[in-house]
Amino acid sequence: MRTQVLIIGGGPSGLLLGQHLSNAGIETIVLERKTKDYVLGRIRAGVLEIGTVSQLRDVGAGARMDAEGMVHDGAVISYGDAQIRIDFAAHADAAVMIYGQTEMTKDLYDTREQTGGAIIYDVDGVEIHDAKTSAPYVTYQKDGTEHRIDCDYIAGCDGFHGVSRQTIPMDVRKEYEKVYPFGWLGILSETPPVHHELIYASSDIGFGLCSMRNENLSRYYIQCSIDDHPDNWSDGAFWDALKRRLPQEHADVLITGPSIEKSIAPLRSFVCEPMQWGRLFLCGDAAHIVPPTGAKGLNTAASDVFYLADALRRLYRDGDKTGVETYSERALSRVWKAERFSWWMTSLLHQFPDQTGFDHRMQQAEVAFLQSNVNAQKVLAQNYVGLPY
Ligand code: APR
Ligand code: PHB
Repeated sequence: MRTQVLIIGGGPSGLLLGQHLSNAGIETIVLERKTKDYVLGRIRAGVLEIGTVSQLRDVGAGARMDAEGMVHDGAVISYGDAQIRIDFAAHADAAVMIYGQTEMTKDLYDTREQTGGAIIYDVDGVEIHDAKTSAPYVTYQKDGTEHRIDCDYIAGCDGFHGVSRQTIPMDVRKEYEKVYPFGWLGILSETPPVHHELIYASSDIGFGLCSMRNENLSRYYIQCSIDDHPDNWSDGAFWDALKRRLPQEHADVLITGPSIEKSIAPLRSFVCEPMQWGRLFLCGDAAHIVPPTGAKGLNTAASDVFYLADALRRLYRDGDKTGVETYSERALSRVWKAERFSWWMTSLLHQFPDQTGFDHRMQQAEVAFLQSNVNAQKVLAQNYVGLPY
């Protein structure tokens, strides 16, 4: 088999890239290790930056998001009972879209199926060969048979645990990592959101986040210990811990109910440089991870896709190689800014197990500064809605 761009991974990065390329008449095949149901069973974040929203519309997968998504032009940061509303409309002249990553992925699958794009599910043992030559290829097994696909370029969209990043030799690859000493325990519940906007709540007993999927589906998180387990938390204990982190005004009106999902996510910052090796390009979680504070994971994946799709279109349409040659540099420049923002929000709002009294005062002073300084709010708003591509 042969294709122009072979895409490894059928998560949001691979599917969004595939759609941009198919729409431009560039042939692609997506190889996905799992089944479609498995991919669509994963619950991830739910805040789309303006750039992600426009890309979904541009590729023709934005109709359901526009009908069902919730446009938010602000969010709340609280500490104890004090609250700061960050006004995205006033400070950044923009808004974010609340729409689950799971829904976005489903829409991208539907669009790919409607436009006849190839996806091969349930593949095993994917290996990348000759990425430094002009004739790369990929081998994999499916149903016990070995297959080979030759291609012009390979997009490694296979997430943090994929094979693509590992294919770049250790003497070329440099990895930067920070692991945070806590996790997020998240639940999904069929209850109305406590507030019409997201609340990022800092408190003396740890961080909490109130998010939502729709008017009757809420997503809540609390900071937990890194070695905790969801089974240690009854729904009652979760609601109790969340309430104690929220301003009284919100805790008093929180509607609780049974959780329909409960899981713990670790928090990590990670960047791999470069994001390109010969004819292999990395996109999304394959190249970088952010802690979820600030909701930059999916959005940073989407900005990589924007740069790579643009580069490949220019190459196939005009023979212009500039985009593919500068992809890593362009993508990393925006990635590091999103890393900085996510690290900053995480450091500001969480309780660190080893933090000193001084560290705590620094957090309080930073929040007080944010509350009193409209320029600081502006910086937050501009980062939250998404820096320009
Ligand atoms: N071969 C084929 N597919 C693979 C392989 C492999 N060796 N390894 C992983 N995959 C698939 C996974 O099953 C998954 O469906 O690649 C896909 C990667 O998807 P994600 O992990 O969702 O990564 P990405 O598409 O980059 O999405 C951006 O940013 O912060 C996050 O939550 C956010 O998941 C989102 C991500
Ligand atoms: C979510 O809705 O799951 C969510 C929202 C904002 C974040 C992280 C997660 O910063």
